[in-house]
Amino acid sequence: MATTDDRAISSHLKESRRFAPPDAFAQRALVGSREAYDALYRESLEQPDAFWRRESSALVWRTPWTRTLSWELPHARWFEGATLNVSESCTDRHLSGATRNKAAIIWEGEHGEVRTLTYAQLHREVVRCAGALADLGVTKGDRVAIYMGMVPEVAVAMLACARLGATHSVVFGGFAAEALRDRIQDSGAKVLVTQDAGWRRGHLVHLKETADRAAAQSPTIEKVLVLRHVGQDKAPIGMVEGRDVDWHHALEHASDAGKHAVAVDAEHPLFILYTSGSTGKPKGVLHTTAGYLVGAHVSTKYVFDLRAEDVYWCTADVGWVTGHSYLVYGPLSNGATCVMYEGAPNFPDWGRFWRIIERHGVTILYTAPTAIRAFIRQGDEWPAKSDLSSLRLLGTVGEPINPEAWIWYQRVVGGGRCPVVDTWWQTETGSIMMTTLPGACDAKPGSTGLPFFGVVPDVVHQDGTSVGPNQAGLLVLKSPWPSMLRTVWGDDERFRTQYWTEVPGAYFTGDGARRDEDGYHWVVGRIDDVLNVAGHRIGTAEIESALVSHPSVAEAAAVGRPDDLKGQALVVFVTLKPAFAPDDATRAALLRHVEGEIGKFARPDAIRFADALPKTRSGKIMRRLLKDVAAGRDAKGDTSTLEDLSVLAKLRADEE
Ligand code: WTA
Repeated sequence: MATTDDRAISSHLKESRRFAPPDAFAQRALVGSREAYDALYRESLEQPDAFWRRESSALVWRTPWTRTLSWELPHARWFEGATLNVSESCTDRHLSGATRNKAAIIWEGEHGEVRTLTYAQLHREVVRCAGALADLGVTKGDRVAIYMGMVPEVAVAMLACARLGATHSVVFGGFAAEALRDRIQDSGAKVLVTQDAGWRRGHLVHLKETADRAAAQSPTIEKVLVLRHVGQDKAPIGMVEGRDVDWHHALEHASDAGKHAVAVDAEHPLFILYTSGSTGKPKGVLHTTAGYLVGAHVSTKYVFDLRAEDVYWCTADVGWVTGHSYLVYGPLSNGATCVMYEGAPNFPDWGRFWRIIERHGVTILYTAPTAIRAFIRQGDEWPAKSDLSSLRLLGTVGEPINPEAWIWYQRVVGGGRCPVVDTWWQTETGSIMMTTLPGACDAKPGSTGLPFFGVVPDVVHQDGTSVGPNQAGLLVLKSPWPSMLRTVWGDDERFRTQYWTEVPGAYFTGDGARRDEDGYHWVVGRIDDVLNVAGHRIGTAEIESALVSHPSVAEAAAVGRPDDLKGQALVVFVTLKPAFAPDDATRAALLRHVEGEIGKFARPDAIRFADALPKTRSGKIMRRLLKDVAAGRDAKGDTSTLEDLSVLAKLRADEE
C-alpha cells in the first residue's frame, strides 16, 4: 500500500481558519447549535431504534420494521421486517398535500430550454414507465441497465424500476461501449434503457449508437427502451426490429401494471452501481431498499438543511453515486424542488452555472472541487455577471478541497453569507458520512469535519489502533450504518477482502486522513490503487488493462500526479513491443484506445514511453517510484528492492 501524501498533510496542517455558522442561518436551521448536533449524534449511537424510527417517519412504510439492525461482520441487515417501495416515498407520498403541484424537477437543456415536472407529473411518468417496463417483461428482482444523459427521464426510469422491485444499474453516459457491455454482462441486465443522444458542450453524444454496440455483445439484453430526446433530424437512429422499443410509444400504450408499487423487503436490492477498485474489473456496489433510502433521506434533510421553499441544485451526473443519492432519492424523498442541468458548465461560456442559479433562484448548490477550481481560473468576472443572492448554502463533494478553493467558493459564490458543507462519502457508503452541519458546526476550509448521525469514523494504524491527533492514518468506519453497501454484486468474497480485511473489525475506506485536536477529519485522498481525476474514480488497474489490450503495448503502469485543476492527473508509463515506435502516432493510438475501452473521461493526461519499468526483484512494478518521476520529484525512500537502478535514472533523464 502506498503512503499518504506528505505534502497534502503539511498544507492542511497550516490551515487554521474557522467559519462559524452565520447567525441568520443558524437561527432558522434544523440543527441550530453545536449542542443540538452533539445531542442528536449521541442519540443516534446510543438509541438507534428511537433515532431512526423518528427520523424515517415521513417515509412510506407498508409494514414497519421489527428489528433495527442485525450485524454479523461484514453483513448488515437494517430495518428487517419492513416492507416498502422507494418510489412511494419519492412520488406518491407527495400527492396528497401542498407538494402535489410543486416542481419536483426543473430541467434545463444545454440549449437553454426548460421543462418542469411537478410531483404529480413525475408520479404519472413513473407509473407509465413502470407499466411500460412491466410490459417488456421486467418483474421484481430483474436487473435493468440505464445508459442515459442528464434528462428528467433518467430519474423517471430509476424510480420506475424501483416501483417494480427491479434493480437498476445506471452507467454513466461517458462510458464507452466496452465498459457498458462489461457492466451489463456482470449485472445480467434484461432490459437496457437509453436515449438517442444528449448534448454536451455543443456536441451530440450518441448514446444509442454506443448502447447498440454494447447490447450486441450482451446476450442477456432482451429489450432496449429508447427515448428520443434530440430527435431523428439531429441524431438519426436505427431501431432493431423486435428488440428496440420507442419510449414515448411504450409509455403512451403502457398497461396499468405500474399503478400499484410492489412492496419489497427492506433488504431487497435497489441498485447496483459500478465503481473502480484496485483490480481491473469494476465492482458492482449493491445498495438495498430501506437502509439506503433512510440514509439518503435523512442526510439530505440535515446536511442541506432543506426547507419547503428551497430550490436545490446538485450538479453531479446521475451516472455517479452523488447523482443517485442527492439528485434523485434524497431530495425527491424530501419533496424538494431539484434543478437538473443537461450540459457542460462552460457552455456556451463560463457564466452558465451562474445564469442557471439566477434564472431558477437556486438556494442550495452542491458541486465538486474540480468545478470550483476551473471557475477560479476563469476569473471572478463570470460569477459577478449574475445575481447569486438567492443562494443560502453551498456544498462540495468528491475529492479533497484545497482551502483556497473553499475560501473562493464561500466569498465569491456565497457572497460571504452562505455556510459551506464539505461532504465526505463514497459510492460504497451510499450517503454522506462526514460534514459540518451548516447551522450547527464551525467549518474549517479543507476539513470534511465531523461524523453524520450514526457514523463512527476513526483514523487508525493498520492494526486497527487509533493514531494520535494530527497524525496520518487509515480512515475507517467502525460501526455499520443504514446506507452501507451490502456486498459486491456476484462476488461476496471480494466485498469481504476489499473492505473488511485491511483493518481488523472495521470498514476500510481506501482513504488516508488525520483527525485534529477538535475531532475534525482531514481527508488526504486515496491511498490504494484508485485515482481521483477531476472527481472521477479511476482504478489504475483498469487503465493498465485497457492499455495492455492494445497490440503495441508490452507493459503499462498508471499513476497519479498532483494537478492544480483536476486534483490528480493521470500519467501512464508504457513499454512497447519491439516492432512499435515510441512516437506521436503510437501515443495518439493509445489515447484513442483508452477512450474506446473506458471512455473519454479516462484519457491519460500524459503517456511516457520507457524501455523498462522499475521493478522489485520479485517483478512487481514500483508505482511509488513512478509517482515521484511523474511528479518531477526525487524518488523518496527506499530503492533497495529495485532490481535495476539504471531504469529509474533513465526515466528521469528522459524527462529532462
Ligand atoms: C473522495 C463520491 C475528500 C475520497 C461521493 C473517497 C473526498 C472517494 C470527499 C469516493 C471529500 C469524496 N473530501 N475526499 N469531501 N468526497 N472524496 O465513490 O477519496 O465516486 O474515497 O463517491 O472520493 O468517490 P466516489
